[in-house]
Amino acid sequence: MRRSVAALVLLWISFIHLHFTQGSAIIDHHTPYWEQPFSQPYFENSTKRDTTTTVGQTAYLHCRVRNLGDRAVSWIRKRDLHILTVGILTYTNDQRFQSLHSDGSDEWTLKISSPQTRDSGVYECQVSTEPKISSAFRLSVVVSKAKILANPELYIKSGSDINLTCIVLQTPEPPSFIYWYHGNHVINYSQRGGISVVTEKQPRTSRLLISRAHANDSGNYTCSPSSSDSASVMVHVLNGEHPAAMQHGNSGGATTAVAVSLSLLTSSLLTGQLLRGVTR
Ligand SMILES: *[C@@H]1O[C@H](CO)[C@@H](O)[C@H](O)[C@H]1NC(C)=O
Ligand SMILES: *[C@@H]1O[C@H](CO)[C@@H](O)[C@H](O)[C@H]1NC(C)=O
Ligand SMILES: *[C@@H]1O[C@H](CO)[C@@H](O)[C@H](O)[C@H]1NC(C)=O
Ligand SMILES: *[C@@H]1O[C@H](CO)[C@@H](O)[C@H](O)[C@H]1NC(C)=O
Ligand SMILES: *[C@@H]1O[C@H](CO)[C@@H](O)[C@H](O)[C@H]1NC(C)=O
Repeated sequence: MRRSVAALVLLWISFIHLHFTQGSAIIDHHTPYWEQPFSQPYFENSTKRDTTTTVGQTAYLHCRVRNLGDRAVSWIRKRDLHILTVGILTYTNDQRFQSLHSDGSDEWTLKISSPQTRDSGVYECQVSTEPKISSAFRLSVVVSKAKILANPELYIKSGSDINLTCIVLQTPEPPSFIYWYHGNHVINYSQRGGISVVTEKQPRTSRLLISRAHANDSGNYTCSPSSSDSASVMVHVLNGEHPAAMQHGNSGGATTAVAVSLSLLTSSLLTGQLLRGVTR
């Protein structure tokens, strides 16, 4: 008899303990929610509602909830009402979805790794109040494309310049680099003189200039930005007065020139911002 009373008391003590350790994070920073009967959870509306990313580039949706108390924050995919995360746990089999949260913070971030265009749509940040409250975030996953401003078949007289301009369309962030290829080879400055590449971040363009083109500069030129689909043009360098003889080009020519590294700074700055966003 006495033993079972002792057991009950122990049970009761551990229950109380559990209760208080769960609440302690709130006690540290705010008045406990049970002392503010009228303060319900609410969304901090200053966070970004529309996010655009390119295919494959990790996206983050930031939901901030004040006065959360002991309620849980879940992320729901609106399209099929699929529950993606509850608290910091991933609920779906699709492990690309992850919830990021640090103790004491009011931010619950949905991280979507390797997003695809089909992941575009509305995601709801939901709080388990009675009734539930939720806040909608829109994600757009776009396919970024490169475009070379020239005819797909370009005829150039031997001795004149090959001047190709590539622009990167539909990208929220400038590419961290743009490579040019001649055939299958990255264009490399050191193998032929007279080649220059100028890349500008803001208009998101890269210009390839090959001066005094030879027949062996003919072939397929490809502009390939990081995280974008590439674009190609076929260049035919025509020898003298007989263009007909050159119709099939001479794409067997040796490779020329340069890997263009557009500021890697851009990508490290971006990473820094994201990290700051997540840990805040
Ligand atoms: C935040 O936005 C929701 C829906 O747009 C609105 O119902 C709510 O009152 C807003 N909260 C604040 C604190 O502005
Ligand atoms: C290359 O073409 C662009 C426009 O397409 C032009 O602005 C630029 O001056 C040209 N560069 C040379 C060296 O011809
Ligand atoms: C460019 O070519 C040189 C000589 O062939 C080679 O050493 C260098 O690694 C190449 N650079 C790139 C970026 O391919
Ligand atoms: C040029 O090269 C690209 C990339 O390798 C390829 O996708 C495209 O089909 C090529 N175009 C031609 C006309 O050979
Ligand atoms: C390309 O042709 C020019 C002129 O005929 C020649 O000087 C050069 O060595 C050739 N380059 C290669 C890589 O064959």
